[in-house]
Amino acid sequence: MRADLLIDNIGELVTAESESGSLRGSELGRVRRLGDAALACFDGQVVCLGNRNEVKAQLQLTSDATIYDAGGGLVTPGLVDSHTHLIFDGNRSAEFLMRCQGKTYAEIAAAGGGIVASMLATRDSSLDRLVSLGGLRLQRLLESGTTTCEIKTGYGLSLESELRMLEAILHLRKQSAVEVLPTFMPAHAVPTGSKKEEYVAHVIKDMLPAASRMVTESAVPTFVDIFCDRGYFTLDDTKLVFEAARELGFSLKVHSDEFVSLGATALACKYGAASCDHLLNVSEEEMAMLGCCETVAVLLPGTSFYLNLAAHAPARRLVEKGAIVAIASDYNPGSCHIFSLPFIWGLSCLHLKLTVEEALNALTVNAAYALKLGDRLGRLSPGYQADVAIYQVSRLEEVPYNMGWNPIKAVFKKGRLVHNL
Ligand code: NIG
Ligand code: FE
Repeated sequence: MRADLLIDNIGELVTAESESGSLRGSELGRVRRLGDAALACFDGQVVCLGNRNEVKAQLQLTSDATIYDAGGGLVTPGLVDSHTHLIFDGNRSAEFLMRCQGKTYAEIAAAGGGIVASMLATRDSSLDRLVSLGGLRLQRLLESGTTTCEIKTGYGLSLESELRMLEAILHLRKQSAVEVLPTFMPAHAVPTGSKKEEYVAHVIKDMLPAASRMVTESAVPTFVDIFCDRGYFTLDDTKLVFEAARELGFSLKVHSDEFVSLGATALACKYGAASCDHLLNVSEEEMAMLGCCETVAVLLPGTSFYLNLAAHAPARRLVEKGAIVAIASDYNPGSCHIFSLPFIWGLSCLHLKLTVEEALNALTVNAAYALKLGDRLGRLSPGYQADVAIYQVSRLEEVPYNMGWNPIKAVFKKGRLVHNL
């Protein structure tokens, strides 16, 4: 077997047990844990993994092969962040302190904070500055083990500045070692001074078609997302945006049930959306629907933690119902200024009550499905892309345990060493 990359001396290699498909119910917790392992890759894909002596006995290394010594560390698939709002200017540290004093997200938004506050800072920002801020943040994500990352627009909220955000995302997709997936989200909030109905009509008539032209030109698969919640957009608005976006060939996502349940999750299932995200207040019926469709349930435990909410998403119930449960960061300047997936992994165990193995699969395999990339990413199985996270710790349990300290030592993207301590 030919290989141009050998990751040797792995203390423990952990990846999903099954070699294809999204993971539901008891499958979510099934992993292969290989001790004293090695991983061989060729041309950016995994070719073989297992006991290091057995792997090496089968290999024919190319003359220019890279041999990387993992130093007895843990190895997992590169982490996939399927939900971020990583491009923004300014910061909302004052809101964090207001929340510490007991103010809620809704009260802060009503007082001029929230999404609209980031909109004001982001509208004033140039394309170059947005790309440079985004690039710096992506580098931090990469150093924390994230190899694939979705990024949403939604802090422009005008035709010109939403397109500027989208353009910044497309630039980052070209230049970053992290694989970037764009999501167009002009329906993130109604900009100050606009009437909601008129804004939704503008989104549908002007913004979605313009975004479609931009991404079609560069042939980039793109999602459209909408914030369906009290004080933001209604179920009817969501339907209108879904219809228009689907017509233009976008894949769909929705922020649903974060504060109240408006029926967006059922709608997402009906429209075959790639994912519905948040789900703190999802109804029992909708959980059952998620158990029978391909729409991924993306849970964001960093947000309920950062907003200091009393309750978290009903992860155990969703797993029991057979939903495809994924975990993401929701990294944004307001409700979750946390980008570290190893930290989010800790919260998944602590607050969502996922096992350490379930959390790994939710951050890799199912997260890749939330981005419609599950056939290529999220596993270390033969034929999958060689996106690899190498840790300074040697056992899976030590990742959530070390909350707050970055356990990542090195990262390979498509077989290429892109970060090394
Ligand atoms: O996913 N819920 C809507 N959007 C973001 C919050 C964005 C912000 O506060 O800037 C979220 O939590
Ligand atoms: Fe979000």
